[in-house]
Amino acid sequence: MPAQTVAEAKSNSSAVIKVDVERVNGDINDFIYSGFAEHMGRCIYGGIVDYDNKHGLINEKGHRTDVMEALKNMKMPLVRYPGGNFCAQYHWLDGVGPKEKRPTRPDLAWKNDETNLFGTDEFMEWCEEMGCEPYLCFNMGTGTLEEALAWVEYCNLDGDSYYAKLRRQNGRLKPYNVKYWGLGNEIWGEDQVEHLNAGDYAKRAINWAKALKRLDPSIVLVGCNYTGFDKWDIEVTPKLIKEVHHYSIHLYSSSDDYYKNVTAPAAAEIGIEILAKLIDLAKITEDAPNSKAKICFDEWNVWNPPHAQGDLGAEQKYDLSDALAVGSWLNVFVRQAEHLFMANIAQIVNVISPILTKPTGMVLQTTYYPFVLFSEHMRGRSLNLHVTTPLYKGETEGFEGTQHWLQAVDPHIVMLDVSATINGSKLTIAVVNRSLEDDITTSFAFNGKFSISTVKVWTIYDEDVTKANTFEEAFAVVPKESETTFEDVRDKGYSFPKHSFSMLQFSVEND
Ligand code: AHR
Repeated sequence: MPAQTVAEAKSNSSAVIKVDVERVNGDINDFIYSGFAEHMGRCIYGGIVDYDNKHGLINEKGHRTDVMEALKNMKMPLVRYPGGNFCAQYHWLDGVGPKEKRPTRPDLAWKNDETNLFGTDEFMEWCEEMGCEPYLCFNMGTGTLEEALAWVEYCNLDGDSYYAKLRRQNGRLKPYNVKYWGLGNEIWGEDQVEHLNAGDYAKRAINWAKALKRLDPSIVLVGCNYTGFDKWDIEVTPKLIKEVHHYSIHLYSSSDDYYKNVTAPAAAEIGIEILAKLIDLAKITEDAPNSKAKICFDEWNVWNPPHAQGDLGAEQKYDLSDALAVGSWLNVFVRQAEHLFMANIAQIVNVISPILTKPTGMVLQTTYYPFVLFSEHMRGRSLNLHVTTPLYKGETEGFEGTQHWLQAVDPHIVMLDVSATINGSKLTIAVVNRSLEDDITTSFAFNGKFSISTVKVWTIYDEDVTKANTFEEAFAVVPKESETTFEDVRDKGYSFPKHSFSMLQFSVEND
C-alpha cells in the first residue's frame, strides 16, 4: 500500500489531515536517525576531535565536548565511518598503533594530507563515549579483500590470530564486535578512485561478502547501490540479494530556488519506493524469499556544492528554507520507515552539517532543530495518513541540476508535507508548510481514542525564509514551544504558517 494518499485541496483553507491510529505503515527503525563522519574537511579534525584546542573545549582524549553534547541531543544510535569517497583509498592499518609512527598520506578524494592521528581505535572509543554503534565502510577502491578481512579480524576476533593480537597490543583487550560493514562507497561514481561498472562491482562484492561472512558470520553487510532510481540499482540489486543483508543508497538535494529546494526530497521517496520494489523483484527472480533486505540511506542531506565545495571542506551554511527541506527529508524517512534499515545524515559536524565549529565554540544551524525534534519525538510506528493539500506545480530540481523529472514522475508534490508516528500513548504529526506565500488552514479527521488533553506544539518559523543561525546570532531560528487543546484542533483545525515546520503531539488511549 502507498505510505500515504494525497488529494488536491481547492484552496489554502481546505486542507485536511486524516489520522487513523490503526493505519500503521510499519515499525520505525531508530537507525533512521543515524549519522555519518568522514575524513573530509573539518569533520574529524576540528569537529569530532580538536587535539590542539586551547579553549577548554576538549576532554583528555581530545574529543570536542561541545560537539558531543550537541550530537547527544540528536540521539544518533549509529555513525558511519571513515567515508565516503575517502574510504576508496584509506588503509586502516595506517590509523592504528603508536601515533608517532602513523604515516601522513595524501588523500585522493578531497586532496588533503591525512595524518591518521584519528583511526579505528579512536573512532571506537568515541562511539563508546557517545553510546552509538559503529558502521565501517571498506576500501573497495585501492583496498584488497585481504585488508578488509584483516580489519574485521582486528575489530571482532578474540583469539590468538595476528590482527586480534595487534588490537590487544594497541591497548584494546576486548573485541569491538563491529556489526555493520559497508561493501564500498559510491563505486558507481566515475570520479571514484578505482570506479567499477555495475557487473564488475557485483562480482567483487559477492566474493568479498562470502569470505567476510566466513570470517565472522555475525556481521551485517551493506551492498553499494546508487539512488534507488538508477540503472545500477536494477542490475546490482538481484545480483547481490543472496549475499548482502541490506542495500545502501545516497542522495543530496539543493537549489538556490526556494520551491525547488524544499520539494527536492520527494526524489528520495521515489528512490526508496523503487528500490523496495526492486528488492521484492529480486526475491522473486533470484529465489531469495528469506532475504530481509532493506534500504540503508546512508548519506542524505541538503548540499549545494557551488556554495560549499567538497575540496574546500563543504562547510555549508543553512537557512530556514534548508531546515524545511531537512524536515521534508525526515518526513520521507518516517513515511517510508517500513523499507528502511537506516538513514545517515551526511555529515555530523562541519561538513554539510547542522553543527559548525570554530576553536572557541560552535553554532547549531537551522537544520539541527528539525532533526532533534524528529529524533526525540518521531519513533515507534509510522502512520498511514490521507492528506488533502494544495499541490506544487512548478519545476523541480535535485542535486546540481538533476531530477528535473520529479514533477513528471510524482503528480502530487504537496504543499503540506506530513508524516505521523504513534509511540505508546503519543501520536506526533510533523508538517512542513512549503508555501512561500500562504498559511494553510487545515482540518483534522481523527480515528482512535484521543485523550481530551493539551496538544504540544513546536514551530520553526521566521518571517524571513533566508534567516540563518550564525556565530554572531546563534539562536535566530529555533523551535518555539506552545500548546493548544485536542478539542480546538478537532473542532477548529490548525493553521500552519507559511514556510514553516510544525510538530503537534497528541495523547491517545491505548487498549
Ligand atoms: O558526504 C560527502 C561525499 O558525498 C561523500 O564522500 C560521498 O560518498 C558523497 O558523494
